[in-house]
Amino acid sequence: MIVARVITCSDSASRGERVDLSGPALRGLLEDLGWSVDRVEIVPDERDRIAAAIAAAIDGDGVRLVVTTGGTGLSPRDVTPEATVEVAERLVPGFGELMRLRSLEKTPMAPLSRAEAAVRGRALIVNLPGSPKAAVENFEAVAHLVPHALELLAGEPIEEHPGSA
Ligand code: MTE
Repeated sequence: MIVARVITCSDSASRGERVDLSGPALRGLLEDLGWSVDRVEIVPDERDRIAAAIAAAIDGDGVRLVVTTGGTGLSPRDVTPEATVEVAERLVPGFGELMRLRSLEKTPMAPLSRAEAAVRGRALIVNLPGSPKAAVENFEAVAHLVPHALELLAGEPIEEHPGSA
């Protein structure tokens, strides 16, 4: 079973000034997919804190999928993609490309998300925008890629590539 960690990146939610709706929404979506979420964590929009939370989930707790929500835009405090790149070994640009493509069908503001996806060890990190609606819409655009991505990262023998004729 895929074990995921959800990390909400938000100054106001981390201070308790705003209820985190995106983290629980993503937990629900991931569990509906049959995966398990070990924790929904809230961190402030601090590059070091976000990077440390991602690395701890993967290196310390063995999580294979880290999903972040928030901090992908252009506000001065939006640093989630930078924190992700800091702990990344390799980037997976296709996730961001597909998320923005699908999101454009929903909003002309889609390209304002700078969300990245990246690999660290055998784990995948996916950034999502901060609103519950945007977070869910973006993850729905790439969820079908995750199981095969994790198989590839684990070096598991692949009999047949899903979707191939
Ligand atoms: N993608 C989808 N699917 N739906 C949305 O409502 N909002 C956009 C964009 N992507 C949105 C979306 C907006 S308005 C912004 S500013 C960026 O995501 C970044 O959001 P963030 O700063 O909360 O991470």
